[in-house]
Amino acid sequence: MRVAVIGGGVSGNAIVRAVEARGCSVTRLSRSTGFDVLRDDARAALAGVDVIIEATGRFTTNRKKATAFFTGSTRALSLASRDLGARHVLLSIVNCTRPEVQGYGYFAGKTAQEQAALAASPDLTIVRSTQWHEFVHQNLERMKVGSISLVPGMTIAPVALGSITPVPVRIPGRLGRAFRDGALLPGAHAEVVGPRFRDWLAAQSS
Ligand SMILES: NC(=O)c1ccc[n+]([C@@H]2O[C@H](COP(=O)([O-])OP(=O)(O)OC[C@H]3O[C@@H](n4cnc5c(N)ncnc54)[C@H](OP(=O)(O)O)[C@@H]3O)[C@@H](O)[C@H]2O)c1
Repeated sequence: MRVAVIGGGVSGNAIVRAVEARGCSVTRLSRSTGFDVLRDDARAALAGVDVIIEATGRFTTNRKKATAFFTGSTRALSLASRDLGARHVLLSIVNCTRPEVQGYGYFAGKTAQEQAALAASPDLTIVRSTQWHEFVHQNLERMKVGSISLVPGMTIAPVALGSITPVPVRIPGRLGRAFRDGALLPGAHAEVVGPRFRDWLAAQSS
């Protein structure tokens, strides 16, 4: 399974680690590796990949700028995923599409991004996460006025990034469908022997 991770930030790094740990070959693409999703030929850069994970981001509270960036990134990757027959996985944020948070330009951009992906990607998975623990540090850096960081009052339910990013990789085609549909399960009357997985796992670490 060949996976491309677009975006080299905190999530991009965590996804690369998670995907490599599952034995997949990973290509990382972002401006620091010489690929600009808004300008470069995504189809050429992604030729041969099975899965495209979109973890690009640009922090801005300006609605127009956020929308231009997020929809530009997603349109390029949606078209590439369609032309290459690759699955498109898009990172997004729980409840960013709610009407009452659209006044925050970044969320308006994420909403437009989800809509663009839904319209253009034939094989799409949107992974919506709450904020990550890493968000605290990101916010301190992003909301700086001189040497002062503005900390907006927010009630959030953050999670560790590492527990979000292992995305189940969907094996394409007949074989993948068979695996998902339970082709390897025994019959209803099969005799089940030995410890259950949970008990077996607990015994390994004791
Ligand atoms: N942070 C959170 O708590 C959180 C929670 C849920 C979902 N998300 C979503 O997850 C996604 C990634 O967030 P993040 O926190 O990992 O962002 P991040 O740390 O800001 O990283 C975003 C990356 O995008 C890359 N990038 C920016 N412009 C690019 C361009 N034109 N072409 C190619 N790559 C470009 C940058 O790498 P280069 O500088 O190398 O180009 C950057 O490292 C975002 O869509 C965000 O909304 C974030």
